[in-house]
Amino acid sequence: MRFHMNGGSDDNEIVAATGSEGAAHIRKFVFSSNERSVNERLEIKIPEILQGAYSFYTWPSAPILAHFLWERRQSLVCKRILELGAGTALPGIVAAKCGAQVVLSDSCILPKSLAHIRKSCVANQLQPGVDIDVVGLSWGLLNSVFRLPPLDLIIAADCFYDPTVFEDIIVTIAFLLERNRGAKFIFTYQERSADWSIEALLKKWKLHAASINMDEIGKESGIDLLEFMGGHTIHMLEITLVDQLVQT
Ligand SMILES: C[S@@+](CC[C@H](N)C(=O)[O-])C[C@H]1O[C@@H](n2cnc3c(N)ncnc32)[C@H](O)[C@@H]1O
Repeated sequence: MRFHMNGGSDDNEIVAATGSEGAAHIRKFVFSSNERSVNERLEIKIPEILQGAYSFYTWPSAPILAHFLWERRQSLVCKRILELGAGTALPGIVAAKCGAQVVLSDSCILPKSLAHIRKSCVANQLQPGVDIDVVGLSWGLLNSVFRLPPLDLIIAADCFYDPTVFEDIIVTIAFLLERNRGAKFIFTYQERSADWSIEALLKKWKLHAASINMDEIGKESGIDLLEFMGGHTIHMLEITLVDQLVQT
């Protein structure tokens, strides 16, 4: 199986605000369930700066991963989760709201991005350092990985957008999965080029990838994923250690 990396609008409410940073706004994401007798609803407010760098707005892959997590919320309670390249951190914040112990991370050389993640947490009544952790973790630099707590799950949305750092991400994942036997890496990515593939890297670092079917994601909240995709093609994969696969 090859894992190529070829490469909107939604029902979110956008509340604009003018500030020194430019066109900042709060984007609202609603997660709900009409399937059970008890109506459940979670509203997440994400501060965004559209003119900012990559990490200041929510990419289409993020709400898809967030809905995937929301729909598995019972299994997230007390799970220890790390989000890589979190940006505005929608998936990690949803997981924390569902009862997971979450560490949000982004590049350690981007202090403004890390500050923006903290802003996202505070906008959702999650106090960094108390309810949720925010750390600098640059892909391929494994020194910060040693300071992480034990993990059950690693997540990421739209981090495979620059082939020059694919191996840095894969090395980080291989290292984290080796340190946290039994953990998985689940991520969404947007197709950007037919020439991009992580297949050789997976083989090199002894990792196994499997596609996750996205057909049902969003249904519980009555959302059609195409609304988020804005014409892009997005996939979800699960990566585990090859030797773990053999043992199970
Ligand atoms: C395309 S954005 C995706 C952000 C967010 N996950 C989303 O889907 O909305 C890529 C993210 O990766 C982060 N990033 C880029 N290079 C990185 C690196 N070398 N190490 C860690 N994070 C990095 C960026 O700061 C940014 O937040």
